[in-house]
Amino acid sequence: MIDLRSDTVTRPTPAMRRAIAEAPVGDDVLGDDPTVAALERRVAETLGKEAAVFMPSGTMSNQVAIRAHTEPGDEILVEATAHCYFYESGGPAALAGVMCRLLAGTRGLFTAADVRAALRPRNLHFPPTKLVCVENTHNRGGGAVWPLAQTAEVADAARQAALALHLDGARLWNASVATGVPEREYARHFDSVSVCFSKGLGAPVGSALAGTAAFIARARRFRKMFGGGMRQAGLLAAAALYALEHHRDRLAEDHAHARRLAEGLAALPGIVLDPATVETNLVLFRVTAMPAPDLAARLQEAGVHVLASGPDTIRAVMHLDVSETQAEEAVAVFRRVLAG
Ligand SMILES: Cc1ncc(COP(=O)(O)O)c(C=O)c1O
Repeated sequence: MIDLRSDTVTRPTPAMRRAIAEAPVGDDVLGDDPTVAALERRVAETLGKEAAVFMPSGTMSNQVAIRAHTEPGDEILVEATAHCYFYESGGPAALAGVMCRLLAGTRGLFTAADVRAALRPRNLHFPPTKLVCVENTHNRGGGAVWPLAQTAEVADAARQAALALHLDGARLWNASVATGVPEREYARHFDSVSVCFSKGLGAPVGSALAGTAAFIARARRFRKMFGGGMRQAGLLAAAALYALEHHRDRLAEDHAHARRLAEGLAALPGIVLDPATVETNLVLFRVTAMPAPDLAARLQEAGVHVLASGPDTIRAVMHLDVSETQAEEAVAVFRRVLAG
């Protein structure tokens, strides 16, 4: 089976498992775990922030960030297909008690004008708007990368309105590898940045939230409240550190495999895909040959596992456990299945 459902399906390599086995650990809720502390320092440094806190998941990292930036009754501005709104089970409403004001994006990206158009007068009729959320790369946008200039313009518009900015950088590593722009260059426009180790980097578990020391101290309290205080979490942090050290640069291979898949698929009847839209490791395309769930089911029978992301859209994702040969084999399987 060639599993292209997500970059979260990777399994730890033997070397990563050794790093996990050898990690020094302690009770991290009591502040004793040296491996977690090392990971948090490393993430803060990579993102150019004062501090970071290890999180069990990208979802918790985003939801803790939203909670820490707001109070119940506030409003946040978020793109309509952003993960923290679309796929996190109603977290902003349930956990932070905030209203989400949705911005209409193009492949998940919006503009400074969109932010300005959503601003409200500050008076008692309206919820106080507190936060703008950005996602780079954008998951439902097909792995789209935010141009740095557009990021800066959105950040300027938000700052002029005294709004805080959160970056969901679950795949920020992919954006940096694709563009050559260091993670900290993107991160510097944001008050908080969430990154994941369990996606393209191939660690089994874990994310981190970075920001000022004061913000991260507040985030730690909400992490505990949300049930995310983990004890000997150094076992997981060791995998994340290993992934950062050894699996970051190789993301370029995933991007090359995604482009190859996109070029192969674009030539097939019944698929609508512009390969130029494939900037990172996600390949999102429209299916006209049959309903997307039917095609996904037929592909699975033929040995390629993908996810229908809508009634007529499919997402295929490249990752650490997909070789170049498998990327090419996947195109051949699509061709056979579409030929009926
Ligand atoms: C952009 C983005 N943010 C956050 C998450 C949530 O991560 P997790 O599955 O670790 O909760 C995902 C998961 O795929 C994602 O794609």
